[in-house]
Amino acid sequence: MPDRNVLEVRGLHVCANINGESVALLKSVDLTIGRGRILGLVGESGSGKSLTCGAVLRLLDGRGLDVRGDVVLNGEELTRLRKEPMRKIRGREIGCIMQNPMTAFTPVHTIGSQFIETLRTHSSLSKSEARDRAQTALAEMNLSDPSKVMKSYPHQLSGGMLQRIMIAISMCLRPSLLIADEPTTALDAVNQLQVLRQLDRLRTEHATSILLVSHDLGVIARLADDVAVMREGEIVEYAEVHELFDHPQHEYTRMLLEARFRGRKEGSPCFG
Ligand SMILES: Nc1ncnc2c1ncn2[C@@H]1O[C@H](COP(=O)(O)OP(=O)(O)OP(=O)(O)O)[C@@H](O)[C@H]1O
Ligand SMILES: [Mg+2]
Repeated sequence: MPDRNVLEVRGLHVCANINGESVALLKSVDLTIGRGRILGLVGESGSGKSLTCGAVLRLLDGRGLDVRGDVVLNGEELTRLRKEPMRKIRGREIGCIMQNPMTAFTPVHTIGSQFIETLRTHSSLSKSEARDRAQTALAEMNLSDPSKVMKSYPHQLSGGMLQRIMIAISMCLRPSLLIADEPTTALDAVNQLQVLRQLDRLRTEHATSILLVSHDLGVIARLADDVAVMREGEIVEYAEVHELFDHPQHEYTRMLLEARFRGRKEGSPCFG
């Protein structure tokens, strides 16, 4: 029997009330991710990628948005879950790397205490075991002085460092789904490569499925198995990665691919 899908999003609609008018931000979004698969989500700024991530994680609750549709994780419908069970699923079952990593951490506690607390909430590790595990994971993420990072407060670290810490947390918790919203955008080339390697390790060693949001089509080409192209809150094309790059069907996808090719030619003489 084939593996059941890890994530199924069906008919996801998100509306905002703007000046008394209902404005559709996501329109009937459908996504499917199988076990150990990586789905790339691409589209220009403002197309609805982060909203899609937020809806899956149920982080849009209380933001004045009307969210409808089904989000099914390993056969369990998440949209009707109460707050507490959903909080448990976030972290243990669904890991996330947020586009704005500052919001993922509490400003008043050190990274070490938040990392250790998160590990202990979702496992039976002792405090010292959790500390060791955290330090090893930070070192694997190329964070050169893990004990200093552990003692730091979020505002003392860069966005790229905080994103790598979120990946380190996921490496420890091994969720069945990781939502990675622009995980490499804030990073230099060396650290980008490191992050891509770790994401690939999560998938190959732990069969984690990944929803990978990136405006960098190079990152998508390197990691994704399938790609969904989003435009103005709608998925306009959905294809296997080679198919999408070799035979884009939608005019908008062709435009994104051409923009990338132009950017490469102008930005880097070695691609000329
Ligand atoms: N709470 C909200 N109320 C009203 N509009 C919102 C709200 N949150 C997001 N939006 C709008 O929804 C649209 C999609 O936003 P989203 O953050 O998902 O874009 P994105 O594709 O992630 O863009 P980027 O690539 O810049 O990160 C934007 O036009 C944004 O202004
Ligand atoms: Mg975004």
